[in-house]
Amino acid sequence: MKKTVLVSGGAGFIGSHVTVELSQAGYDVVIADNMSNCDDTNYKGVCAILGRKLPFENIDFCDAAAVSALFDKYTIDAVIHFAAYKAVGESVAEPLMYYKNNLGSFLNVLEASKNHGTHVLFSSSATVYGEPEKAPVTEESPRQPATSPYGNTKQMCEDFLRDCVKAYGMHGIALRYFNPIGAHPSALIGELPRGVPNNLVPFITQTAAGKRECLSIFGNDYPTPDGTCLRDYIDITDLAKAHVCAVTRMIENRMDEPYEIFNVGTGRPVSVLELVNAFEKVNNLKLNYRFAARRPGDVVGIWADPSLAERKLGWKAVRTVEETLASAWAWEKHLMEQALQDK
Ligand code: WQD
Repeated sequence: MKKTVLVSGGAGFIGSHVTVELSQAGYDVVIADNMSNCDDTNYKGVCAILGRKLPFENIDFCDAAAVSALFDKYTIDAVIHFAAYKAVGESVAEPLMYYKNNLGSFLNVLEASKNHGTHVLFSSSATVYGEPEKAPVTEESPRQPATSPYGNTKQMCEDFLRDCVKAYGMHGIALRYFNPIGAHPSALIGELPRGVPNNLVPFITQTAAGKRECLSIFGNDYPTPDGTCLRDYIDITDLAKAHVCAVTRMIENRMDEPYEIFNVGTGRPVSVLELVNAFEKVNNLKLNYRFAARRPGDVVGIWADPSLAERKLGWKAVRTVEETLASAWAWEKHLMEQALQDK
């Protein structure tokens, strides 16, 4: 019998890509989103890629009664929880908003999952490692005190899941994402930042598109080979496939421990400058950029040791940075065409 996965935040950037991969792997997917941080572009894109309409529920995961009713309405085998705020700077300015939303929604998911025997996959982040003592980081590398309320919610939600698994006999996996970038090869779904993008790749594509005048590269005096920060940029489709492996591991009872954590990265450090150069080369264009002051809070370098995921999930990132950057640009061009048609 087909298994059903609930994807909270399924209309967002990561959620929409995960929905596509789950559906293509044979899962029934229920998308739930309150559309507070996106429009229906990605939902429509998902349906276009799959050639059918997926069940969609407009709910706020902070509403405990609504979450409980959702779990009553469908027989949900596993839930993947993405529904959360994700802007680091905003979380510093509005900590209560972040704590209420990101913790409250996950507590409701945990409670409903406990009551219904549902497996839980939590979308965590490499941000839990802070400035690592050494890279690459393994899942055993120590978590550092969070430097923002956003980062703190990721750490706290990991702990909520760990404790609930232990106390209630549940099963849970936390995936720690490095830097997800790119878009689906169809260019029908992708990242849709509101306002000025905080993240590097949307800023690059918007600059190439002429929506932004100039990319600022934050710092070129770091102790790295070219002076710019090192990150582990993971293709969004590769990342989405890790979720299929993790959900299947839970549903098929193949876990070694009832609560497991996996890094989801490539293991390949790439500097900001290397990424910019690769973007220019693969898309055959010139990007207007300049070096600017360091951005407060940035870590110098972090990248994954992804070997645990390879060993236990049977998952490995396969796409090259060039393929991913080509997909990011194809998506930006798709958005420009859409904007022209809508005029
Ligand atoms: C990458 C590099 C910047 C913008 C953040 C969150 C993390 C996760 C992913 C998710 C850094 C540089 C950036 C620009 C630049 N969160 N940069 N010019 O900071 O590694 O991680 O996003 O929801 O929790 O902290 O990603 O894409 O912002 O930056 O030079 O305009 O690009 O300094 O070195 P980051 P990023």
